[in-house]
Amino acid sequence: QAPGKGVHNGGRVLLGVMGDPIGHSKSPAMHQAALQKAGITGAYVPLEVTDSSLEAALLAVKTLNFRGVNVTIPHKVAVMDYLDEIDEEARRIGAVNTVVNDHGTLKGYNTDGRGYVRSLKDEAVPVLAGKTFMVLGAGGAARGIIYALAQEKPAKIIIVNRTRDKAEALVQEWSDLALMTSCTYEDAVHWLPVVDVLINTTSVGMHPHTDQMALQLEGLRSSAVVSDLIYNPLETKLLREAARLGCTTHGGLGMFINQGAIAFEYWFGFAPSVETMRATVLSSLN
Ligand code: ATR
Repeated sequence: QAPGKGVHNGGRVLLGVMGDPIGHSKSPAMHQAALQKAGITGAYVPLEVTDSSLEAALLAVKTLNFRGVNVTIPHKVAVMDYLDEIDEEARRIGAVNTVVNDHGTLKGYNTDGRGYVRSLKDEAVPVLAGKTFMVLGAGGAARGIIYALAQEKPAKIIIVNRTRDKAEALVQEWSDLALMTSCTYEDAVHWLPVVDVLINTTSVGMHPHTDQMALQLEGLRSSAVVSDLIYNPLETKLLREAARLGCTTHGGLGMFINQGAIAFEYWFGFAPSVETMRATVLSSLN
């Protein structure tokens, strides 16, 4: 093939993550390790993109022949305005975290919820069907997770939120997907005895506020699994409390790794080494 014909960027695959701020993202190190392990010559770079430069940045993905990008805070919703196509799942969740550039057509996906479910199944709860879930929070992160859980034939999903109306709106919006109900933190205690898997999607307990937890767990069965999306710290106060009650715990690192692994699958059509990605992220946390 003649140089410059069909082969872009000297045969190197370009990828990146757009966000603001982006300096602390673990995605570049994680994906660079995955590329190297897969024998792909390329670069995955942090891309600092402000609100006002988002449109131009997406145009540059086409212009510069990037294979794709991840999109993170604060652009997961706004980016949808600048894509050519949006996958059904991402459209219903209302957020995109992965963009694929197919010969100048940009398509958006959301891999957060499925990344979470894959991690939960791999690490803590092999079968989700028939289980009763309690989800703390009803924001962007909760939407991805609840949507993905709803595909797994759960018995019920109880959404607990400080702002009850937001949780109830979600129950109404997705009543076609699964049996769901909403409640306040005060009422959550009444549901705890029937919960199989409790999932914290709020930022309560995240560094530096590591002495906080979103909900008291008394009443939860020891057979329950408690899961926290937070991975800094790796073990939150909520998970320590859960362990004290004899519950199995599941931290947020696996979600982060698996959302990245599913994005990699969209870009390349095969699965990356999740073990390599995990080792890379863990070493960057220490
Ligand atoms: P994310 O994308 O991380 O989900 P978000 O969309 O801003 O961020 O949603 C944050 C979620 O965490 C919301 O459910 C929020 O509750 P409200 O809808 O009532 O605001 C919840 N949250 C944040 N701080 C909280 C706190 N201190 N106590 C309880 N819930 C909290």
